[in-house]
Amino acid sequence: VDLPLTLPEFEERAAGAIERGAFDYFAGGAGDEITLRDSVAAWQRLALRPRVLVDASRRSLEVTVLGRRRPHPLIVAPMAHQRLATPDGERATARAAVATQTPMCLATLASTGIDELAAAEPGLTRWFQVYVLRDRGATTALVEAAAAHGYEALVVTADVPVLGVRERDRRSRFETEEAQELPALRLLGREGRMIVGETASLFDPTVTWRDVERLASESPLPVLVKGILLAEDARRAVDHGAAGVVVSTHGGRQLDTVLASADALPPIVDEVGDEVDVLVDGGVRRGTDVLKGLALGARAVMVGRPVIWGLATGGAAGAQRVLELLLGELDNALALTGALHADGLDRSFVQHAPWANH
Ligand SMILES: Cc1cc2nc3c(=O)[nH]c(=O)nc-3n(C[C@H](O)[C@H](O)[C@H](O)COP(=O)(O)O)c2cc1C
Repeated sequence: VDLPLTLPEFEERAAGAIERGAFDYFAGGAGDEITLRDSVAAWQRLALRPRVLVDASRRSLEVTVLGRRRPHPLIVAPMAHQRLATPDGERATARAAVATQTPMCLATLASTGIDELAAAEPGLTRWFQVYVLRDRGATTALVEAAAAHGYEALVVTADVPVLGVRERDRRSRFETEEAQELPALRLLGREGRMIVGETASLFDPTVTWRDVERLASESPLPVLVKGILLAEDARRAVDHGAAGVVVSTHGGRQLDTVLASADALPPIVDEVGDEVDVLVDGGVRRGTDVLKGLALGARAVMVGRPVIWGLATGGAAGAQRVLELLLGELDNALALTGALHADGLDRSFVQHAPWANH
């Protein structure tokens, strides 16, 4: 297959490959999309500080995440409705994840069931993203199903008490008209389909730290709180039993004009980085972005939209190529910065870039 060589080309091809409304759902952000754009730009505002002549013949991408040794620091971020990108949806993503030894986080609003994904790809290292639903019984059932089907962590999304203002979705008829597969709804005793615009009604706006505490104490799985942007919230997450946090703006899809994750990350690492795992996502488009995240203290880096562009362009093979491109670039960056080991990075490898002041 003739697959693109760079992530921007994947995005361009994806735009031509899927319906406009679906593309806008995947690509879009909240409000004026300032945080969406800055999520990419923030990594580019960091300059690298390479060390030379250090024998770059041996590199290692290995890191430790939630106490487990992993071959590299990438994780597929939870993203809803993946069948809008490719007919197999999350199953295609899972094949790409297995092929590249990348953990994948399945979304509550996935178009593939918790059990179905586990059965289709038993070799997948899988995590489950939890939305605390109005129906707490259904929330508990989802979390129990995840544990029963070999998911290794719960990622509790904290930045969606209500949905962000997403104007691209309002504009496209997509949001209002087409019902999407949502197998998780069967646990609420409903048909497993719903239009995207209605899914927001499932979320419980009363969600608080108590829910995190309950999930952390009731589930045998480690809980990561996703959508943390402040050091004091990271501290609260730890106080309420979290095993880690994901510094994230939800890909710029929730509150517009919040700091990009790359800028929010350092104070959070300073606050809790010695106690729990800090992960980061948002705007990671190059291996050098991954390296910068690690240098700022993240243990692992989640990748969102690029995986969707891979799926839309070439199904599982496309998503696999996207992950391979990022891993190849990371390996190259480890050689050229002289860092050599993904778990040996620190802030001395990055500095504020002078070009960012212009
Ligand atoms: C189409 C789409 C759907 C998403 N759905 C979810 C979701 O259901 N739950 C969640 O916690 N995050 C969701 N996210 C946010 C991602 O997990 C992640 O934080 C973000 O996409 C990372 O930014 P990036 O796309 O720039 O890599 C979604 C993101 C996209 C693009």
